[in-house]
Amino acid sequence: MKTVVSGIRPTGNIHLGNYFGAIVNFVKMQHEHQCYFFIADYHSLTTHPTPADLNDNVRKVLVNYLAAGLDPEKSILYRQSDLPETAELYLFLNMNAYIGELQRVASFKDKIRTQPNNVNAGLLTYPTLMAADIIIHKAHMVPVGKDQEQHLEMTRNFATRFNNMYQTPYFPEPIAFSFGEQLVKVPGLDGSTKMSKSENENSCIYLSDEASAIRKKIMRAVSDSGPTEPNQEKPIPIQNLFSLMKIVSKEETLQFFNEQYNECKIRYGDMKKQIAEDMIVFCAPFRERILELESDTAYLQKVLDMGAEKARISAAQTLKEVREIIGFRKL
Ligand code: TYM
Repeated sequence: MKTVVSGIRPTGNIHLGNYFGAIVNFVKMQHEHQCYFFIADYHSLTTHPTPADLNDNVRKVLVNYLAAGLDPEKSILYRQSDLPETAELYLFLNMNAYIGELQRVASFKDKIRTQPNNVNAGLLTYPTLMAADIIIHKAHMVPVGKDQEQHLEMTRNFATRFNNMYQTPYFPEPIAFSFGEQLVKVPGLDGSTKMSKSENENSCIYLSDEASAIRKKIMRAVSDSGPTEPNQEKPIPIQNLFSLMKIVSKEETLQFFNEQYNECKIRYGDMKKQIAEDMIVFCAPFRERILELESDTAYLQKVLDMGAEKARISAAQTLKEVREIIGFRKL
């Protein structure tokens, strides 16, 4: 049995990217491994949410976790800020993380581009906080989407650097994991290659979306005027529609539209209608469970309390040993 850690930033409900990139794996892994799945609320402070929004979004992620099938008796579900040991480990790791390597991280460079007025130190040190989340439980595997690959590489660097500096093989080197052969990247509806709430809210389908919202968003998805030659290569927005169809539709449906495309007969309106109907069927059971769980505050709080208690056992043990290794010892 291996140790598994992963988390999601609380920005609202979970979209299909989060689901297929991460949660599908969480649900499967909880039966086979010791799993820690958390809600990364410290990380979300980089975007300065109001206290009410922060709290509301934590609740949404928890509800989505449970609705997607995470079992609080099997995996340890907790809120990152309920584990202040994480912040202490983050401090230690920052002493051994270099400005140059942090500035070269793709997600940091993206933030400089997209939010030039809020390039805070938390964004720069985002990868060290993420490394702290992971190695605090001495994780071996981290189920994530493709966009987190570089962060995992940095986590391995920080873990190895600690081990080398103190000449002890203390932290394992965790790997990014997906049950598929490769890490997943679910495309957006806006023609971009990644479904992302921070890039474009309208590019996302949420598990909690109702049928009318799904229809509206998918019918508005970016497409083009259609292929002009048989077997033409698909432009990115069209490839995106096919990728989304592959996720929710039957194999023969996908094949049918592929043939239509290759024979230049495709009608994107029909294809979108089909994706929307299949997407509605896919999301409906999640939405139903989300609505059920949403109002049960006492149960949700109980899950968080139980998770915090269990997660702190492993975190406190790690910090005790790390302090000792670093040299914070009795005189
Ligand atoms: P976040 O909150 O942006 O995304 C949560 C998870 O969803 C995956 N994901 C996607 N996968 C495929 N296609 C997409 N379009 C897509 N969009 C999002 C992400 O890869 C991620 O697995 N830094 C993390 C949160 C975090 C974390 C950690 C994760 C903090 N500490 C420790 C793992 C371990 C983040 O912002 O993910």
